[in-house]
Amino acid sequence: MKPTRSLYVIFVIFLLVFSTLAVKPPQQHLDVEARVNALLAKMTLEEKLGQLQQLDGEGNGTFRPEHLELARKGLLGSTLNVRGAKQVNQLQHVAVDESRLKIPILFGYDVIHGYRTIFPIPLAQASSWDPAVAERASTIAAKETYATGLRWTFAPMVDIARDPRWGRITEGAGEDPYLGSAFARAQVNGFQGSNYNTPNKILACAKHFVGYGAAEGGRDYNTTEISENTLRSVYLPPFKAAVDAGVGTLMSAFNDLNGVPTSANHFTLTKLLRDEWKFEGFVVSDYTAVKELINHGYAANDAEAAQKSLSAGVDMEMVSRTFNQYGPTLLKEGRLSQKEIDEAVKRILRIKFRLGLFDHPFADETLEQNAFLTPDSRAAARELAARSMVLLKNNNNALPLNKSVASIAVIGPLADDNRAPLGWWSSDGKDADTVTPLQGLKNKVSAQTKINYAKGCEISGDSKSGFQDAVTAANNSEVAIVFVGEAKEMVGEAASRSTLNLPGVQLDLVKAIQATGKSTIVVLVNGRPPTIGWIVENVPAILESWMGGTESGNAIADILFGDVNPGGKLPVTFPRDVGQVPIYYNHMNTGRPPDPASRFNSKYQDLPSTPQFPFGFGLSYTKFEVANVQLSADRIPLNGSVKVTADVKNVGQRAGDEVAQLYIRDVAASVTRPVKELKGFQRVSLQPGETKRVEFTLDPERLSIWNSELKFVVEPGEFKVMVGTSSEQLIEKTLTVERR
Ligand code: NOJ
Repeated sequence: MKPTRSLYVIFVIFLLVFSTLAVKPPQQHLDVEARVNALLAKMTLEEKLGQLQQLDGEGNGTFRPEHLELARKGLLGSTLNVRGAKQVNQLQHVAVDESRLKIPILFGYDVIHGYRTIFPIPLAQASSWDPAVAERASTIAAKETYATGLRWTFAPMVDIARDPRWGRITEGAGEDPYLGSAFARAQVNGFQGSNYNTPNKILACAKHFVGYGAAEGGRDYNTTEISENTLRSVYLPPFKAAVDAGVGTLMSAFNDLNGVPTSANHFTLTKLLRDEWKFEGFVVSDYTAVKELINHGYAANDAEAAQKSLSAGVDMEMVSRTFNQYGPTLLKEGRLSQKEIDEAVKRILRIKFRLGLFDHPFADETLEQNAFLTPDSRAAARELAARSMVLLKNNNNALPLNKSVASIAVIGPLADDNRAPLGWWSSDGKDADTVTPLQGLKNKVSAQTKINYAKGCEISGDSKSGFQDAVTAANNSEVAIVFVGEAKEMVGEAASRSTLNLPGVQLDLVKAIQATGKSTIVVLVNGRPPTIGWIVENVPAILESWMGGTESGNAIADILFGDVNPGGKLPVTFPRDVGQVPIYYNHMNTGRPPDPASRFNSKYQDLPSTPQFPFGFGLSYTKFEVANVQLSADRIPLNGSVKVTADVKNVGQRAGDEVAQLYIRDVAASVTRPVKELKGFQRVSLQPGETKRVEFTLDPERLSIWNSELKFVVEPGEFKVMVGTSSEQLIEKTLTVERR
C-alpha cells in the first residue's frame, strides 16, 4: 500500500472506531429510555409505588419474611443491609421469577471505607492529599462488595464539616470544598469505574444532600442555616463534583436547611440537582427521613410527609413507608400528580437498567470464596494507611526509631485495641482481622528488641489503677510509645461530643509516662480533630494515625521505624480548645483582624485565635523548601488563565513526600471572600537533594466566585496567589485580572 493510501485507511478506521465510541453511550441510554417507558406503561400504581420503597433487612444481613411477600407481588424496589450472594439471590429469584413484571431488587449497603478489608476512615484518606488513595480503596471495596451480591453503596459521604464535635466529620474529607471535591470524584470513580454495569463495580451514592455537616452545635441531625452563597461556595461543590463524575444516586439528608428539611427541599432536590445540574439518577431519602418531616414540623402527618417529599424530588423512601401507604390517596385527591410518581419510578428504573440489573440480576455465588482480605488487598490497606497518617511533631528527630532499639514500652488503651482502628462504618470488617499497633510493632522488630506492653487505662472512665504498670514498662524501656484516642463508638452517626479532649484519664496517662523522663512518643488513634495542647507542648513526637483500618498497626510500625516517611497533611483544622469551634482556614476576614497593638480586634481574651495545627499541615522525616514561585503573567484578561509554578526541593537526608498547595485570595469582590482558598495541590516524592517543579493552572473555573447576584463569575481586580506546604506556610504573589 502506498503511504498516502495507508494513511487514508488508518484515518477511516479511526473515524469508524471514534464514531462508534462517541455514539455508543447515548445509544445505550436511548435503549434504556425505551425500555423504561415500555415497562412503566405496564405497571399498576401499586407496582410503581413499590419501586419507590426501600426496606431494611435483619441485623445479621438476612431478609425478612415480609420481603419475600413484597418481592413476589413486585412491591419491593430495594433493600439495605441484606447481603451475601446466597441471601441476595434467594430474594432476587422471587422478584425476578415470581413477580408479574420481573423487576429486580436493588441491594444496597453502607460500604464507606472498605467491605471486609477496611481502609483508613475517609477523613484519614483525605489526609493523604492523594485522591488516588481514595480511588484505590474504593476500587477494592467495590470488588469485595460486588462479590456479596450487593450492587449499591451509600458512599461517598461528601459533607463538608467544620465542626469536630460532629461525629460524622470522620466520614468525609474535612473542611475544604476543593479537596472534598477531589476526594468525591476519586471515590465515585473507584466504586463505579467508567461504567458501573461491569463486574466488580457498584453504584455509588453521594450523601447527605445537603448541608448536613453544618449541624448547629455540632450535634448530629441538628438544624442548619446556610446562606445560598455559602451553600453554593462551600457545601455543594463536592456534590457537584460527584454528579459530574457520573454518580448514579444521591441521598437526601436528615437536616432542616433554612426552614425546609433536606428530604423535602424542592430548591436543592429539583431546582439545583435536576434543573441546574441535569442529574439523571435517583435520590433516596436517608433512614426514615421522610416520616421525620413530622418531627421537624414540616408535615402534619404521614400523608403530607409523602406528598412534600416526593414532590420536592425524593424518589425512593428509605424504611418509612409513607409513599406506599399514602400514594394512592394523594393521587386520588390530586395532591400528587401521576407525572410526579412516574418520574420517580422512571429515575429508579433507569438506574436499574443502566446497572445491568435486568440483564444480570443474580450474583455469582462462587466469588465470595476468594474475594475478601486477599494478600493484595491487605498490602494496599497497609500502604494506603501509612500514606494517610500525619506527623504532627518531631523534635530532635525523636522519630523514626532505630531498629536496633533494645526495648520499647508500648502503652495505652489504644495500643492493642483491634476495634477502634476500623472506625465507624466498618461494614463486614472483623475486629479479629485488625493488626493492632502492638501487633504491628511486634511484626516489625527483631527478636533482640524487647517490647513491654501495658494498657495503662481504659479509653474512658477514671480508673488509674493501671498507671503503675505503665510507668514500670516505661522505666524498663529505652523509649515509650503511648497510644491514645477514641473508641470506635465515639465517632460516626449520633456520636457528637461536647469536648475534644482525650476521653477518660488518657491525658493523665501521657503525663505519667512523660514524667518518667523516657523519650515519649504519642500516637493518636482517633476519628476527629482532638484538643491536645499539653501533649503538643510537652511531648517530643506526635503521630496522627487516625483510625487506619485493618492494617493500621503494620502501617504505624512502618512509619515509626522509618520504612515509610510520613507525608500526610491535615484536611481539617485542629483547634486548641473546643471553644474556638467552628474554626477553619477558609474563613472570611473581619473588619478588625487580629492585631496585637489594638484592644478592639477579633480575638479571645483567654486563648489565641490561631489553631493548634492549621489546615494543610504535616511534617516529614526530611525537610522541604518551596522556592521560585512564578506566575506566567502578572495580569490576565477577564476570562484568561495563568500558570503558577514553584520549585519543591528536598533539602534533608531522606526520600520523602511533600504536598505543594496553591491558595488564592480574591482581595475585594462584590461579596466578601475567604482569606484563603485552596485551588490546587500536588503530592510529590523527592529523593534527598532532588527538586521538582510543580505546575498549577488558575483558570476561570478556579478564579470564579458566586457573586452578589449568585452568578458564578470571575470578578476583575487583584488576587493574592500563594504556594506553600500548609495553609500557613506560603509564598505570596499578586495577580491582576483585567476588566475584559
Ligand atoms: C443513616 C445514615 O445517616 C446514612 O449515612 C446511612 O447510609 C443510612 N443510615 C443507611 O444505613
